[in-house]
Amino acid sequence: MLLKIADATKKFGTFCVLDGISLSIKAGAHLFVGDNGCGKSTLFKCIAGFIKLDGGQITIDGKTIVGLLPYQISRLGLIFNTQQPLLVDDLTVINHLQLTSSKLRSRNWDANCDVEVGRDRSLQEFRHDMEISVLKMASISEPLTEKLGNLSFGQKKAVQFACAIRSQARYLLLDEPFAGVDKNVRDLMLGYIREEKQNRTIMVCEHREKDNSKVFDEVYEMPLKNIVKIR
Ligand SMILES: Nc1ncnc2c1ncn2[C@@H]1O[C@H](COP(=O)(O)OP(=O)(O)O)[C@@H](O)[C@H]1O
Ligand SMILES: [Mg+2]
Repeated sequence: MLLKIADATKKFGTFCVLDGISLSIKAGAHLFVGDNGCGKSTLFKCIAGFIKLDGGQITIDGKTIVGLLPYQISRLGLIFNTQQPLLVDDLTVINHLQLTSSKLRSRNWDANCDVEVGRDRSLQEFRHDMEISVLKMASISEPLTEKLGNLSFGQKKAVQFACAIRSQARYLLLDEPFAGVDKNVRDLMLGYIREEKQNRTIMVCEHREKDNSKVFDEVYEMPLKNIVKIR
């Protein structure tokens, strides 16, 4: 597993955010830190195909992804959790998990999931798993049937995180996953990242490195326009 960025450049008008950055990211957990406005979200959006690079190359496992649309990149096994959760207020938590996990998706997918929960074995297993999951910790009282519109920002971040972890994606790009969640939820998320990083590439960005030092294999700092590996 290898995500390679070569000489990536991104400008907004005359303002240069990424000035020819190059990186090789292997399986494991990688943290990107930097002040507001340094370009963390821009970097992640360029990788996920949400915005186009002005120059340079990005490859996943040797295949170029520059010019592909977000859904095409996602089909290569990459999930991107945006800084502001892009979730649908009228859909339930389980609907979101079904949409992002082929294991949980069923042919009878229905916005009213109650029928399926009783029938579908994977959903039953999932329900059990949820009892100890990040959603429970985030105090979502009905983690299967609650609609997203009823949740706080931090609870939405927890749903977003659960979707990424429970997806089959090999590359996880998590833009500020810990924003708005309390320390217990954050620690639980870090535990999931520690468990999952062996077989996946997990890229996380946040403002400052906090107490994550044992979870992340590599830490990059993003001074304006640039990127420097600090560990
Ligand atoms: N779509 C856009 N149009 C113009 N400027 C943008 C756009 N997106 C981001 N920027 C600017 O690019 C810089 C980097 O933004 P961003 O990647 O969101 O930073 P970070 O995520 O590190 O806070 C900021 O100065 C921001 O205002
Ligand atoms: Mg950002």
